Amino acid sequence: MTSRRLEGRIAVITGAASGIGEACARLFASEGAVVIAVDKTKETGEVVARSIRETGGIASFVHADLGRESDCKRVIEDTLAEHGKIDVLLNNAGMFLGKSVPEATSEEFDSVFQVNVKAPFWLCKYVLPHMEAQGKGAICLMASKTGLVAQYDSPLYCASKGAVVLLMKALALDYAKKGIRVNAVCPGIIDTPMLDYAINLAPDPIQERRWNEAAQPIGRLGKPDECAHAALYLCSDEASFITGVAVPVDGGFTAM
Ligand SMILES: NC(=O)c1ccc[n+]([C@@H]2O[C@H](COP(=O)([O-])OP(=O)(O)OC[C@H]3O[C@@H](n4cnc5c(N)ncnc54)[C@H](O)[C@@H]3O)[C@@H](O)[C@H]2O)c1
Repeated sequence: MTSRRLEGRIAVITGAASGIGEACARLFASEGAVVIAVDKTKETGEVVARSIRETGGIASFVHADLGRESDCKRVIEDTLAEHGKIDVLLNNAGMFLGKSVPEATSEEFDSVFQVNVKAPFWLCKYVLPHMEAQGKGAICLMASKTGLVAQYDSPLYCASKGAVVLLMKALALDYAKKGIRVNAVCPGIIDTPMLDYAINLAPDPIQERRWNEAAQPIGRLGKPDECAHAALYLCSDEASFITGVAVPVDGGFTAM
């Protein structure tokens, strides 16, 4: 039995086909939200939306490549056309790049920033006028602990997440008096397919996973659900006086 903290809210959740985004889609739907699950991966995205419906939730899948402005615009416009409003935007889709600056190409720089920074910019650009007109809205950006402190071997990913954190803070200030709250969740090392991808770049992935577990003050990896609960809180009315914060969900990592 849940408290249905998002009853009837229209929630656009990106990157909902996997990992943290999937956990958010399931949790938000269980709290009464009408979930618009957006992802570039059609098959798994449809499976997630269908399984939410089969367990009594309301969800539909929208196929989009958020690295394109036209797709971001379409996601917002189609959702407004179908549902008449958007209450919550959870920008979660992201990509990792584990390359040093000399190794990375300009094209890779552009891809990382396109998905991690420009997509939230585009989605906010198209949803904010609508939220402003309705006088309320909650936006949550899935940043990273690497937006707060750097980590080894992924400078462009760190730079992109740092940009997400400051984009969030700047938007929070600009929209604070307009009923729109903007916050971020900063996951630490969370056990998802993206983490598997990053770990498999290491020469010894098994050792790398053990090292990552041991490096967390809590002594284990985080779970997608633990990030989803932070996002739910920030998007709910319980956080009505909270805007402009980047909440680490990192087992204590950034406390060090
Ligand atoms: N897993 C971690 O340890 C960790 C740590 C810090 C931050 N994060 C952030 O959390 C978010 C979710 O990561 P995750 O670990 O769940 O990853 P994941 O790879 O499991 O899921 C990411 C989802 O985003 C989708 N996606 C990627 N690019 C897209 C695009 N251009 N258009 C539409 N969809 C796209 C993917 O298809 C996938 O379904 C990301 O922003 C990531 O940077 C993850």
